[in-house]
Amino acid sequence: MALIRNNKPAPVETIDLSKVFVVRSYKKKRNTSDLHLPHLFFQELLATQKEEIKALQKVNIKIDQGEFVGLFGPNGSGKTTLLSILSGFTYPTEGKALIFGHDVKNEREKVMQLVNYIPGLLVGGVWIRPEMTARRNLLSVAEMFNIPKKRVDEALEAMGLERVAERRVGTFSSGMVARLLLAFGLLRETPIMLLDEPTTGISPETAADLLDHLRKLNRNGTTIIYATHRILEIEKLCSKVYILDKGRVIAQGSPQQLIRSIGKREAIQMRLLNFGDGVERALREMPGVERISIERENESTASVRLQVISSKEVLPRLIHTLVKAFDCRVESLKVEEPNLQDVYMYYAGRRGDV
Ligand SMILES: Nc1ncnc2c1ncn2[C@@H]1O[C@H](COP(=O)(O)OP(=O)(O)OP(=O)(O)O)[C@@H](O)[C@H]1O
Ligand SMILES: [Mg+2]
Repeated sequence: MALIRNNKPAPVETIDLSKVFVVRSYKKKRNTSDLHLPHLFFQELLATQKEEIKALQKVNIKIDQGEFVGLFGPNGSGKTTLLSILSGFTYPTEGKALIFGHDVKNEREKVMQLVNYIPGLLVGGVWIRPEMTARRNLLSVAEMFNIPKKRVDEALEAMGLERVAERRVGTFSSGMVARLLLAFGLLRETPIMLLDEPTTGISPETAADLLDHLRKLNRNGTTIIYATHRILEIEKLCSKVYILDKGRVIAQGSPQQLIRSIGKREAIQMRLLNFGDGVERALREMPGVERISIERENESTASVRLQVISSKEVLPRLIHTLVKAFDCRVESLKVEEPNLQDVYMYYAGRRGDV
């Protein structure tokens, strides 16, 4: 009897995918710092060293048709590198990345047809004509690539630009230009869409419009991979998340599964004034505090997140230490259910500055 199998390849699959960047770093030769040498001579004494950066290390992911997948992880964890490999812009050093079974290295052109990569606004890269209207700018690209005009209207609407569509782009504010850049990205219709922190630099209202648009595309079958630091976006949108740390996938699952997987824990989120190294040490050593993430806003202000098993047990000692022992001002304090930041802290097993 013939065995009937669904052999359709997954939209995205990686097998032990690794990427190493080799960069030059400059190191001072030993015993030269106290010689007070002239500038030119001093430069000759600098030794260049090659450093290897392991941007991705044996990443294995498999994404099914129609999934909305989040990539979450701190700066430098490998999110952009992964998206860049999946879209054919960067080659892997080892392992494989397959798009509907096509190897990103050997079948790059095919891969580029199947994948639309929208880099973050920090990267930019679209050539905008300031003397033309927003619509004309988009239409000229659409004509160049045989994209139906309908997509131009959809992209303008998705980015909330319909009302200014006939205005010259040279008169746009920076936020409007940011939205137009994303509208360019939305023109191409492909089965897979990769987005790299697309809501950085745009207003919350525009971000909400963009997310609605992505949801609509996803409902119509587009597979989406979305890299972000914004926990709420992932929790709202994604059916599956990969959490990255130092180039490795340290956890994966649906947001709910991941949160459940760290067990019964609570998070104490605080904003502290008059914060210093002494307070930090005391918090790190405090019984009942399992993990801690500190985001310093300036010399004396910090947002602090503590992961605890029971807030009731920790709070009395915590308040006493902060207020009585260190004269810290607790500007706000909330006890929260765990979120993806806590999941990251749990699996990375260290400070979780995502
Ligand atoms: N072109 C490059 N040359 C050298 N090193 C690179 C290059 N691109 C990335 N890296 C390094 O690879 C690592 C992963 O970087 P990547 O940009 O993928 O991180 P990320 O998760 O996107 O971070 P962020 O949240 O800051 O955007 C970092 O250590 C980075 O410095
Ligand atoms: Mg990045």
